[in-house]
Amino acid sequence: MANDVENRIEELRGEIRVHDRLYYVLNKPEISDQQYDRLFSELKKLEDKNKELITPDSPTQRVSEKPVAGFDNVAHAVPMLSIDNTYNADELKAFDERVSKGLGDAEYEYAVELKIDGLAISLRYEHGALVRAATRGDGTTGDDVTANVRTIKAIPLRLLAKDVPDVLEVRGEVYMPKKAFAELNAQREENGEDFFANPRNAAAGSLKLLDPGMTAARKLSFFAYSTGEVSTPLAGGHYETLQKLKKLGLPVNAEIKKAKDIGEAVKICLGWDKKKTRLDYQIDGMVVKVNRFDSQDILGATGRAPRWCISYKFPAEQAETVVESIDVQVGKTGVLTPVANLKAVKLAGTVVKRASLHNFDELQRLGLKINDKVIIEKAGEIIPQVVRVIEHGEADMFAEEFKIPTKCPECDSEVIVSERKRAGKKEDIENKSEYTHTHKCVNPECTAIIRERIIYFAGKGQMDIENVGPALIDQLIKAGMVKNIADLYSLEYARVSQLERMGEKSAANVLDSIEKSKTSPLWRLVVGLGISNVGGQLAETLANEFGTIDKLRNASEERLVEVDGIAETIAKNVCEFFNDETNKILVDELLKHVTPIAPKEKASSVLEGKTIVVTGTLESFTRQSIERAIKDNGGKTSSSVSKKTSFVVAGANAGSKLEKANKLGVQVISEEEFEKMIKGS
Ligand code: IVH
Repeated sequence: MANDVENRIEELRGEIRVHDRLYYVLNKPEISDQQYDRLFSELKKLEDKNKELITPDSPTQRVSEKPVAGFDNVAHAVPMLSIDNTYNADELKAFDERVSKGLGDAEYEYAVELKIDGLAISLRYEHGALVRAATRGDGTTGDDVTANVRTIKAIPLRLLAKDVPDVLEVRGEVYMPKKAFAELNAQREENGEDFFANPRNAAAGSLKLLDPGMTAARKLSFFAYSTGEVSTPLAGGHYETLQKLKKLGLPVNAEIKKAKDIGEAVKICLGWDKKKTRLDYQIDGMVVKVNRFDSQDILGATGRAPRWCISYKFPAEQAETVVESIDVQVGKTGVLTPVANLKAVKLAGTVVKRASLHNFDELQRLGLKINDKVIIEKAGEIIPQVVRVIEHGEADMFAEEFKIPTKCPECDSEVIVSERKRAGKKEDIENKSEYTHTHKCVNPECTAIIRERIIYFAGKGQMDIENVGPALIDQLIKAGMVKNIADLYSLEYARVSQLERMGEKSAANVLDSIEKSKTSPLWRLVVGLGISNVGGQLAETLANEFGTIDKLRNASEERLVEVDGIAETIAKNVCEFFNDETNKILVDELLKHVTPIAPKEKASSVLEGKTIVVTGTLESFTRQSIERAIKDNGGKTSSSVSKKTSFVVAGANAGSKLEKANKLGVQVISEEEFEKMIKGS
């Protein structure tokens, strides 16, 4: 019996590691998030009952329970060097001339890769297990950030292959994807916390948190781009080493290319400046490396940077404009945020008219006045922000001092200012003051707060209620028809159709959309409630785990932290939200109208282990929907027929794939037969 449990635990760990690799390294997930969660929670339950079987490299052990007191120093076995920068093709060619001279007559080729905007990290694996993770620091000594790095799911706690070197230091970049960066900054602004100017700062700030549970919530990821100390070299060149690292289970960026000469390398570099917006993470340039290690050794390094490697930095995408006025917005938590109205200007493909100034500390740090000429750029390629003032308004009469409001611009109640000491070391705080200030309206009746909450609830990333946008919400509030999100569900056609500029048809559309939202997926309702720090992804995690609002609202803090991905602070926020008397009434009221759909249990078993090819024209499925149905039922799709194909679903006018299936003796079924199969009849 004990052995059975032990075997099952090992089997589950193995499966989870395989799926982590498929997801993070190969970018080809084979199971749904829910199926993954199921494996994970089975393992967690078995380990909870058999604590003596828990090992540090188990996928359940990524988040250590205790916050760390600080970070120890780590001396790097091999120094972590920096890279020299170039800014144009001529400088890249000059680099190539130095390389050519240094290598004499020898032939050489380059590896060209993306320069990820994140933070350099060194991962030390001993006998295949991750034993330490350190930041670059000054290149010789860094901070031990092992507890935090272990929470990054893209980083394997154990390498996959058996024949790994005894010691393998993997170096690479920890980064925050653009979407996570934008979501984090929106939350921070709302909480009156500091804004991260770029993904690099966000990654660094997240790795310096003292609570690994909070780092886990930051959605960091990782790409390996070189090695440090290695007991047995993996290959003779850089490109080949990275491919080996990939085989060991480490994520390596897929865009790496070999270039036979600098002309080819330059072309690749310049090409990415135009394509970079397609990526879901930010890059700030390219890195060109002489590929072979023996050539690298001949070239050596200056004190700071290797002579075999160079970066090509993209020109910063900035624009010059004028701040015409400054508005103060009240967010859904009551935090006041200054927003600059700009003279419209084109920046990185869009016309920008407004830029958030984040908070009043930032406004003071910039020394910004109305009518100032400023430089703007997009943080994380998405959020327009003022970087610096280049010139105050022409004459004193134009340069207007902006006064921080002491009254809420919406309801005129007293603004409450709270002061917090900034966390982190002095050097991390850069040129910011030691304290941060949050300016807040705390009037629960403030119409701005009510408005923002309802707008958020109805918004695309939440309940996604079509036709219910800011303009209508303003009208409804003004007419006294809604005071909170639940009131949306008591709206009557007769009154809605009486609103200004609202025809009968529009009123019907509005009510129709609201009606439809009553059966939204549960996660949408959870995120729409606006619980502090609970964004879309955490809401999905909570919905998958608890299945109903009632189960979620009754969950204790202890129960919530048991859920993978839910940090203590988040668990606290959730409990506080549902224990608040006003919220209790609000949720009760909502549940009188809304019956959110529980996460669908997927019929995982029917097609488990089957590889299916779909061909021809189908009647009741689109290509996408049949592929989803196959996946939802545990199967895999493939685009070509082989002996390994389990069966082919053939619609009308099927051609060569059907022929091949017949030739290989692969089973062919019709669309109806497939439907019966997944319906289990
Ligand atoms: S190689 C000795 N490759 O850029 C060379 N660095 O500005 C070691 N970076 O500290 C670094 N992407 O944090 C290398 N593909 C890449 C990179 C990369 C991002 C970062 C890294 C380094 C910094 C230098």
